[in-house]
Amino acid sequence: MPSPAEREATQTAYAASVNPAWLDVLRQCGLDARPLEAEGCWLRLEDGRRWLDFVAGYGAAVLGHRPQALLAGLAEDLFDPAPNLHPLGFSGLAGDLAAELLTLAGFADGKALFASSGAEAVEGALKLARMASGRRRALSFDGGFHGLTLEATSLAGSDFWRQGLPRSEDCAVLPWGDLAAAAAELSRGDVAAVLLEPVQGSAGARAWRGEALSELAELCRRHGARLIYDEALSGLGRCGAWFAYQALGAPAPDMLIAAKGLSGGVLPVSALLFREDIYQAVFARPGCAKIHGSTFGGNRLALCCGLRMLSLLRQLDAPAQARERGEALRRRWRGAGLEGFELEGVGLMLALRAGPAAQERLGEGAAGLLWLQLLQEGALTAPAAHDAAALRLLPPLNVAETELDFFLKACRRAIATLEQEATTS
Ligand SMILES: Cc1ncc(COP(=O)(O)O)c(C=O)c1O
Repeated sequence: MPSPAEREATQTAYAASVNPAWLDVLRQCGLDARPLEAEGCWLRLEDGRRWLDFVAGYGAAVLGHRPQALLAGLAEDLFDPAPNLHPLGFSGLAGDLAAELLTLAGFADGKALFASSGAEAVEGALKLARMASGRRRALSFDGGFHGLTLEATSLAGSDFWRQGLPRSEDCAVLPWGDLAAAAAELSRGDVAAVLLEPVQGSAGARAWRGEALSELAELCRRHGARLIYDEALSGLGRCGAWFAYQALGAPAPDMLIAAKGLSGGVLPVSALLFREDIYQAVFARPGCAKIHGSTFGGNRLALCCGLRMLSLLRQLDAPAQARERGEALRRRWRGAGLEGFELEGVGLMLALRAGPAAQERLGEGAAGLLWLQLLQEGALTAPAAHDAAALRLLPPLNVAETELDFFLKACRRAIATLEQEATTS
């Protein structure tokens, strides 16, 4: 373990050259100890504490931190004699991964493009929708999150992310679920794309109704706009189906983004799936075969990682596992008699939401208080950036029974402590 002097020196160096404001926030929350070891659901911090990690790299560590089977496979891939980058060639791995993803997503035809981050895939989707339609405007919904590149920030479902940044005039954010507003915007005939998360992460696992998405898909079709589902987080099993829209009974979109689950929390890799008509309109034009991409999009190691993750997720039967684990946690929650906080969400994309009773007893900041108290109890969750009353829970899909029990006990103790403090203050 590093000595206090070594820890201090590391923090000083970080503050000097990286982000002192962030370090201040971490200090205020007691989060300024670095994790030096991670295994499955657990982090061991440099001050000796151990945390159950129900944030798991915002859901990217879908099989827990450092999944051994993935690491062992990637260690072999790393030393493969093939080049990692070969921009003037094509990759058999890309064909394999694309075909698997298109099948899982229920795209009978279509193509896949690979990128490194969720936001890069979102930007790609917007760009292809605009190139295919010759239109510029894009719509999104309150509460959604699509990454922090320029256009994705303009489409974020909270003004928080746009401080100091005027929103692009091509983008409009509509009230969540408001089909009348969507119909009014679409009827102008200038919308290229409608972007949404079928289950919103930052709004605390808030799910669209399948029927509402059916109506929206029909509106998009009628007015010539492409419907894009951003499943960077919700895809690849987490919501109890390979893609969340399938779990919700919604129709398939025109374009689909998959990301975190492909990475295993280890290597950046994302994918954009899109229909054949978009491919024909963009890439099949003379001279345009290479009109979109990036240096590291589809690099060999990233594709190996994606293929290995799909194989591991299939072995686990990720959708069934997410349904079963999610239900196991819900069962425990119902039996625990923890009044005031509701466990909500789809599969293992979950949120703890402070209801009116908890807010009355603990104040409007009830969820934030619970978050801090859970840290004291050794459980890491994440405040929902777009809903102050919610904490996000994104456990790995292979979370064990004992870990669910640990989490319940931590919640029980944390809520008891908060209740006690509220009655004595
Ligand atoms: C739904 C969704 N879309 C896009 C992104 C952005 O992904 P990245 O951080 O890899 O750019 C995220 C990240 O949390 C996300 O949850």
